[in-house]
Amino acid sequence: MSADAQKKASGEAAALLVEPGMVVGLGTGSTAAWFVKALAARKLDVRGVPTSEATASLARELGIPLATLDDVMSIDLTVDGADEIGPGLSLIKGGGAALLREKLVWEASKRCVVIADAAKHVKVLGKFPLPIEVVRFGHPHTGRRLADIAAEFDLPPPRLRMADRGIVVTDGGNVIYDMASGAITEPAALASALKAVTGVVDHGLFLDLADEALVGTDEGVVKLL
Ligand code: 5RP
Repeated sequence: MSADAQKKASGEAAALLVEPGMVVGLGTGSTAAWFVKALAARKLDVRGVPTSEATASLARELGIPLATLDDVMSIDLTVDGADEIGPGLSLIKGGGAALLREKLVWEASKRCVVIADAAKHVKVLGKFPLPIEVVRFGHPHTGRRLADIAAEFDLPPPRLRMADRGIVVTDGGNVIYDMASGAITEPAALASALKAVTGVVDHGLFLDLADEALVGTDEGVVKLL
């Protein structure tokens, strides 16, 4: 089964968790897009809170009524993808540059379900470079502070994320530094060190946020708790 077929299966399984009347957090990325499509196909009376402009526009196209995080007191269920799923459902997210809105929506949610293809399930986080969202003002200085932190954790300096058209700018107007590592052995300590830097808005380590994972495998969708 291809990775995309596994993503589709996990997105469709997650759509079955949604009940009428729910406020649903809509994640970002190719796996979350399968969830949004499957949810739209169920035609339930729900409201979606998108985690990015890209997801908002897909949901709008498919006719899912939307709310913003400001409009709702809480979110019943959020379903979102991940770049890596590690021990204890620790996650790396932000490959799609949406980590800030994603984390805000996750933290406002009663239940968070992560969906992914099998390759995302890893023994140790860190093969996927850790995205760090940084305010644009003075970001080269913040980048140097991040390089100091990386050195403390024996990691190489993070790199400013670029695309064909120049620096990648997030929906919040910030930039992304990607911290490649190979292995993040102390995720909680790294998360605290990154959050302590003034120019850092947030990072893609999602620790103690996911309630369960639905992982698409060749044997079917496997639930991880
Ligand atoms: C976006 C994310 C995505 O959920 C993550 O990058 C996974 O994407 P995909 O489902 O396309 O593999 O965190 O910021």
